[in-house]
Formats: sequence, C-alpha cells, structure tokens
Amino acid sequence: DKGTYPFYMLKEVDEQPNVMRKLAQTYLSEHGVPQIDDKLIKAMEAADRLYIVGAGTSYHAGLVGKRLFEKLAHIPTEVHVSSEFAYEQPMLSEKPFFIFLTQSGETADSREVLVNVNDAGYPSLTITNVQNSTLSREATYTLLLHAGPEIAVASTKAYTAQIALEAILAKALGEVTGQIVAQDFNIRQQLGLVATGMQAIVDEKDTLEKIANDYLMQSNRAFYIGRGIDHAVSLEAALKLKEISYVQAEGFASGELKHGTIALIEKDTPVIGFITQAKTAGLTRSNLQETMARGAKTLTIVREGLAIDGDDLILPDVDEMLMPLLSVVPAQLLAYYTSLNKGLDVDKPRNLAKSVTVE
Ligand code: M6R
Repeated sequence: DKGTYPFYMLKEVDEQPNVMRKLAQTYLSEHGVPQIDDKLIKAMEAADRLYIVGAGTSYHAGLVGKRLFEKLAHIPTEVHVSSEFAYEQPMLSEKPFFIFLTQSGETADSREVLVNVNDAGYPSLTITNVQNSTLSREATYTLLLHAGPEIAVASTKAYTAQIALEAILAKALGEVTGQIVAQDFNIRQQLGLVATGMQAIVDEKDTLEKIANDYLMQSNRAFYIGRGIDHAVSLEAALKLKEISYVQAEGFASGELKHGTIALIEKDTPVIGFITQAKTAGLTRSNLQETMARGAKTLTIVREGLAIDGDDLILPDVDEMLMPLLSVVPAQLLAYYTSLNKGLDVDKPRNLAKSVTVE
C-alpha cells in the first residue's frame, strides 16, 4: 500500500534510511561485528577471485561492490552484465566465487549464468530481496536485502540495500583475512551516518523538484559524469532518468568526455557531476568546466568535505567508499520529479516490467 504517496517510487526512496538501519540490525552485532554465516565466509575466503553478476541497477550496485571487495577484503573482483556473461563467459580464475545481485531473484539473464555456474560446480551467493526466489533457491548461499517489497519498476532501495550489504560482507571477509582497512572500518557507525544523511537528502524534496524543473524538464538529453566510484553512480543516475522520464541520459567517465563525446555538448545541455572522492575531485571539476565552456548547464553534487563556493547540492560526509549510498538519492529524486512533472506514470514506465523473466 502506498499510503499517502502518489507513487511507490517516492515511498521507496523515502524508506532508504530505514533499510540501512534494518540491514545494520540484521547483519551487525551491537558492537558492529558482522554476523554472516561462517560457511559463506569460508567459501569466499577460499576463492581467488569474485565474479559479481547482475542486470540493470543490480549490475550498477555490483560496480560499487567491486570497489568495496577490493578495498576492504583485498580480493580481485570482476563485475559482469548477466546477459553478456551468459553467452560469452570470460576466462575464469582457478577458484572463482560468484555473487548474483538480483532484487527480484527472478531475472532470466542472471539465472542463465547461475545454471552454468552450477553445472560447473562453482560456489555462489545470491543477494536478493525475495526469499525463496529462483536465484535464491538455486545458489549455494543467500543473503536477503530486507528492503521490503519494491513495487516501482525503477529500482531504488534495492540498489542502496545491495551496496550496504556488499559493504558488510566485504568487511566480514576482510576481517577474516586480516585486512587492516576492514578492521578499522566502523561499519555500524558509518551506516548510521548514511541513514541520517539519506534522511537529510529526502527532506530536500522541494529543492530537488526545482532542480529537476530547471535542469532536466527542458532537455531531451542529459549527462551524468564522475570518476571511479562516482562514475559507477553516474551510470545508475542515468538509468533512473532514462527509464522513467524518457530523457536520453548517459553516465560517463568524466575523463573520457574529451575523447569524443564532448562533441555532443551544446548550449544548455545538462551535465551533472558527482564529486565525492578527494583523489579525483579536481579532475572532475575541470571536466565540468570544459563542458561549461561549450555551453553546458552544469550541476554539481558534492560531498561536504570537498565542497567549494558555488556548488549546487551538498551531500553529508560519510566514508568515501559509502558515498554512492548518498549520491544516488538526489539522482533518484531528480528522475522522479522529471517524470512526475511530465505527467508520466512514474511507477510503470512504458515498455518495462518489474521483473524481466525472459532472456
Ligand atoms: O530483479 P533484478 O535486480 O535482477 O532486476 C534487474 C534489472 O532488471 C533492474 O534492476 C532494472 O534495471 C530496473 N528497472 C532499474 O531500475
């Protein structure tokens, strides 16, 4: 039931702070020690490489997960689009471990990969929101997202739940393998800050609606740019905008723009930059300048600690690794308001189904 909300998507965006708290309660002890099945951790520890597989938004959550597993658990991690992996399997390491990210647990493209993984006898984990779903039943292990039903076609809380759970899992694995970064990572405190930060962002709906009206309503295309983990979020931000508002949006590695795509920038093209990582903040800023010089209407979404005068949207500071949990929220709301104010059916965009059960 969507209660007083006009659309499920808005309700689901608003639920994200609670989903973060719920995940912390479910998977962390009072002292922040991950409570994850020992057998699962042992199976992951025995692997020499992780393969994350997913489609759409779940694939995008995997791109963030790669950073988390490599940084916290120091294990090489590859991320693959399931429909590609299924028919063009990459060369595998000697001891692969597979992680399937799927909100519904029913995505046919991802299941096709799992069938092959099972045939080959490799261990796997499904991270899903739906207990007893096909991919949950067929994988060796399951972790549930506990995000509550996600009804809107555009996935929101499943994305942030997947990232938070990947962080918990990466911390658990890193601790077992003796990684100092993992030991020092106070995930309980961080998820608490994330929840508070998300709340502050969803409380700024009026500002985000205004930005959607000023920046996105007038254009039939837009760019989201960033580097590294910010690039991963820019892909998700673009997908949100495309699927519900029909604006042709691209998520782009900001440094790549000048290698061709900047030719598309003309007067008033919206270019939105994510700046949440200290190492690349200056570079993304100059890439934004380059588009501005060609007439782009730029907007910055910046972590507080990196903000300068004139920045547009300031996000509360959390550990840089977890910034995607916050930076995606304004992008979800920008997509929402663009769709809403165009009079579209936000929850049921054309040509799309909630769960894609054909290949
Ligand atoms: O249920 P899944 O996570 O496996 O679904 C994967 C994609 O179909 C899904 O994320 C899709 O891209 C969403 N509509 C994006 O908002």
